Amino acid sequence: MCDAHLPDILKVEQESFFHPWTESMFREEMAGNFSVYRVAEADGKAVGYMGMWILADEGHITNVAVGKAYRRQGIGGALIDDFIALAIEKNLCLMTLEVRESNENAISLYAAKGFVPVGRRKKYYENTEDAILMTKFFDTEG
Ligand SMILES: CC(C)(COP(=O)(O)OP(=O)(O)OC[C@H]1O[C@@H](n2cnc3c(N)ncnc32)[C@H](O)[C@@H]1OP(=O)(O)O)[C@@H](O)C(=O)NCCC(=O)NCCS
Repeated sequence: MCDAHLPDILKVEQESFFHPWTESMFREEMAGNFSVYRVAEADGKAVGYMGMWILADEGHITNVAVGKAYRRQGIGGALIDDFIALAIEKNLCLMTLEVRESNENAISLYAAKGFVPVGRRKKYYENTEDAILMTKFFDTEG
């Protein structure tokens, strides 16, 4: 992800989240020493993105979103696959994330990619909705 993607990414963000990140939040994230942000492009524009912090040997997924008109075409899955490949390349032992309990689409996508529920943060969102913690573990022994 680079500055030129931001106008498209802000549109994706606004149609994807109740509390969308602002341009300055994206700029701060992109500048972070431990963060990796990548976009998916289609029809000459950025139509989805994903971010992850790499902290020691763990990957913490910050966000994944795909524009409404481009959903259910495998783009979200392709973004996750790309980060899984990065995690393997960097020999991470796990990738982890939080997801709203009601977000069945995202939960089934993560489950299809090998993430398993490992915990719950009570009333994590707006002090009302629980977050489900989902983690994908890698075998780093061999
Ligand atoms: C979650 C999200 C990123 C998925 O992106 P996507 O490009 O539509 O995902 P894919 O097309 O790769 O879907 C892969 C799998 O996820 C599951 N899935 C995705 N959307 C689904 C839906 N609407 N209903 C049921 N399952 C769904 C399915 O298992 C699907 O595989 P299938 O199409 O072979 O059945 C997208 O819906 C989105 O941006 N949502 C709003 C933002 C958000 O909630 N992000 C996650 C925050 S934790």
